[in-house]
Amino acid sequence: MEAVQELILKTLDSEGTIKDTRNLILPGQTTPANSHDAQLTILSALNSLASREMITYTTHEIQSHVLTPEGAQIALEGSHEARVWAVLQMKGEGKPVTVKQLRQKVGDDIAKVGQGNAFKNGWIEKEGDGFVKKIPSITDATQLEMREVDSTGTLNAGEKALAALRKRKLITQKKGQWFTVHKGTNFSLSLEKPETELTADMLASGSWKTATFKKYNFEALGIPPNGGALHPLLKVREEFRQIFFEMGFAEMPTSSFVESSFWNFDTLFVPQQHPARDLQDTFYLSDPALSLDPPRGYYERVAKVHEQGGCGSLGYRAPWDPHESRRLVLRTHTTASSSRLLREIATQPGGFKPTKLFSIDRVFRNEAIDATHLAEFHQVEGVVADYGITLGDLIGFMSTFFQKMGIHDLRFKPAYNPYTEPSMEIFAFHPMLNKWVEIGNSGMFRPEMLEPMGFPKDIHVLGWGLGLERPTMIRYGINNIRTLVGHRVSIEGVEKAAAVRF
Ligand code: PHE
Repeated sequence: MEAVQELILKTLDSEGTIKDTRNLILPGQTTPANSHDAQLTILSALNSLASREMITYTTHEIQSHVLTPEGAQIALEGSHEARVWAVLQMKGEGKPVTVKQLRQKVGDDIAKVGQGNAFKNGWIEKEGDGFVKKIPSITDATQLEMREVDSTGTLNAGEKALAALRKRKLITQKKGQWFTVHKGTNFSLSLEKPETELTADMLASGSWKTATFKKYNFEALGIPPNGGALHPLLKVREEFRQIFFEMGFAEMPTSSFVESSFWNFDTLFVPQQHPARDLQDTFYLSDPALSLDPPRGYYERVAKVHEQGGCGSLGYRAPWDPHESRRLVLRTHTTASSSRLLREIATQPGGFKPTKLFSIDRVFRNEAIDATHLAEFHQVEGVVADYGITLGDLIGFMSTFFQKMGIHDLRFKPAYNPYTEPSMEIFAFHPMLNKWVEIGNSGMFRPEMLEPMGFPKDIHVLGWGLGLERPTMIRYGINNIRTLVGHRVSIEGVEKAAAVRF
């Protein structure tokens, strides 16, 4: 390989240009590099030199010929007739070879075709019940033609002779290439390997200043991936989605990870003084720090219910800060998205229609990180809005939902959420742990949240939420969250993780 590159550089040095690479005589050869293979060898040397800008080259296309397997065999061992002739004795000098013996010596096919042609050429004749050589030496024209095509890609004799060989299926046409080569901007006779990487050592020693670097090939295709694989969290998410779809829920848009405190907290009747809003619990954005203005009218109604109450509520009667509403946060729950959607439903043109919605997406909390907690995780959330639905409906929906997950024993414990009343924590019996574990949170959304949105009193909304990580870890027998999410995740593990069926 290097020898071919050296030959090209030396030829350029002495001759200035290489007009036709078919005239080069490659190292170890005695005849010009006329063949297809020889030009391929030259091409790879040219590409290597061109990538270092040592040369430039142009490509010329030609119609060329290559040998078929049968043609290649003839080039090597001779034509069928020549092989038949070769195994016979000269007339008068030895025993004639019978048809049967001939077949044994050269094989059935070669004996059959070769014998006929050898007769036609006047090379052999019959003697008794066998054959003998008629002349002491022959010229195997077919073999010579094969060798010529093999080394030059064509025949001096011209197209007619080529066509005859094509018809006999001894050669086939193939697009060939040859090249014209010029010196490049970095032309030199020495073949120093260019650097492919800038290393720490080179920076420390300063050798990068004089090193030559290989040019980037932006056209390179890279290694094709074998295929993708869903992360276990996404496999479990898919399973949850199917459960919701079976129950007639539609998926909510949840793409905004950044929300204003207005949507994340205020609209959910979370008081502005609530500890969940502390820096220790919530990530606030510094740039930009504030949102655009919340929707007029709705904003005023939300502020009023916080400060003064209404819709049968006393409100919080605590100071209200418009600036606090505009502070941007990484959403702490997907209920922020549910709130946006519920407001849309409450005011949708054409009037309210009963609605079942769900979402599964990422949320962020400023938590101490340990084996089971990260600062970001996923929530699964269902919301149902309809006339006159009650706590009984909430329990019913959750029973069906968790049953489809394979969880049949549920217990509910009264709890507190600023935006739901009543609120219930959901517990399931864990047979492996042999105890009741908390699996989710739920409640009936408060009138203080729904009425400012525009919902009439007789429309009630229920909701429940749970984490995606815990069920995933249980399904896959993972006990450290860091093997599921983050830089320590094994790609192979992800690729091999089985699909989940609840
Ligand atoms: N947002 C609650 C949480 O983060 C879950 C929830 C959703 C509760 C809907 C009630 C209604 O835990």
